Amino acid sequence: MAKQVILSGGSVSGVVELPGDKSISHRYAILAALAEGNSEIANYSTAADCASTLECLRRLGVKIEARRDGIVQFAGTGLDGLTPPRRALDAGNSGSTMRMLAGVLAGQPFTSTLTGDASLRRRPMRRVIEPLRQMGATIRSREGDLAPLEIRGGKLRAIDYSLPIPSAQVKSAILFAGLFADGVTSVTESVRTRDHTELALREFGAKVETSKGTARIHPRPKLQARQLIVPGDLSAAIFLIGAALVLPDSSLVLHDVGLNPTRAKVLDFLIGMGARIQVTAVQSRNGELVGDVAVRHAALEGGSISGSQVAEMIDELPMLAALGPFTEKGIEIRDAKELRVKESDRIAALAEGLRRMGARVEEFPDGLRVEGRAAGKLRGAKVDPQGDHRIAMALAVAALGAEGQSVIQQAECVGVSFPEFFTILEKLREKRAEGAA
Ligand code: S3P
Repeated sequence: MAKQVILSGGSVSGVVELPGDKSISHRYAILAALAEGNSEIANYSTAADCASTLECLRRLGVKIEARRDGIVQFAGTGLDGLTPPRRALDAGNSGSTMRMLAGVLAGQPFTSTLTGDASLRRRPMRRVIEPLRQMGATIRSREGDLAPLEIRGGKLRAIDYSLPIPSAQVKSAILFAGLFADGVTSVTESVRTRDHTELALREFGAKVETSKGTARIHPRPKLQARQLIVPGDLSAAIFLIGAALVLPDSSLVLHDVGLNPTRAKVLDFLIGMGARIQVTAVQSRNGELVGDVAVRHAALEGGSISGSQVAEMIDELPMLAALGPFTEKGIEIRDAKELRVKESDRIAALAEGLRRMGARVEEFPDGLRVEGRAAGKLRGAKVDPQGDHRIAMALAVAALGAEGQSVIQQAECVGVSFPEFFTILEKLREKRAEGAA
């Protein structure tokens, strides 16, 4: 699949089972590798990013079997059982893989190299290099603090670190390194980011204390093997929710979705704009909230996102921006310059893609403003997602509500987080056609 043609119109309806959450899958995989004994992780993410994490862990000597039924089995090596990799570890497109594994590798008594694809090799790594160096790791990078990263690990000092940029990946890297430190390591954040690492560490038996923006990890726990189920990925679901909001008469139920409060703010934001979203059957599983999300088409008012909302909805911002032309007042996103250093420059990629479809977009250094309905209906167009999975899916959803057909170039990049996206979308549309016949 290189190009994906999107025919506009119709509606989406049905019940959706989602692939496992990408963020949680990475963390469970890393901890299952470091635990003692055999772990089983069910509904492991189908994302290419999470396969990159498994491959890196295999190269570090962990025996892993990914079964067809979505269960991944790990023979954990224990905290001291990883072995030196013979070749560079390839994180592919995955920032989470590179940054979180950097934390683990900082604590190993050997040297290893982390690399990635062209996009990942352009992304900032200083944010993770700096604290890990403070802990005592020796890290060499390409000029500009870029990957590949050569990490010589060893005995680590515990540190108290305040995150200069809100980043769950960096927080996680430090907490993972803290497993190997000589005392209690703490990470403080002024803006709350997703807390899956803290929750997962506890599930595997580590001692983590959290209060008022600080997480403290006690070193050298005996991590226990676990059987865990990964909740459905809300950051993938958001594109289907977007489709239901763009297409009149739509009605979807998303089953068993992760609703961790550090991730689910996007639902409150959409409800605040007028979306008809209901969350039911909420339960706590392995420390994570999960539940069913029902969404029905509704007129959206529009709104703005800034400050701490940015970190809370960081991966959903492309979808929210692409909903702009379907709202009354448009969507404005500010304080989000982090979007420029994601898998692509998401501000530029969204502005270009949406403008091609006829949207009126103003670009700022730290965000963008997408005008609402009054700026006119979108027209189908040929758009380039710049190799970025979330841009491809956001533009595809906008294309559903445009006039005429659109083409998403190099649409295979959706596989980075949601390989089933186009197939599921088509099924949800087909159903409607059958029902209407
Ligand atoms: C992630 C954290 C966020 C997010 C990324 C996944 C994680 O990145 O954008 O998709 O799993 O911790 P940052 O830590 O760079 O904000």
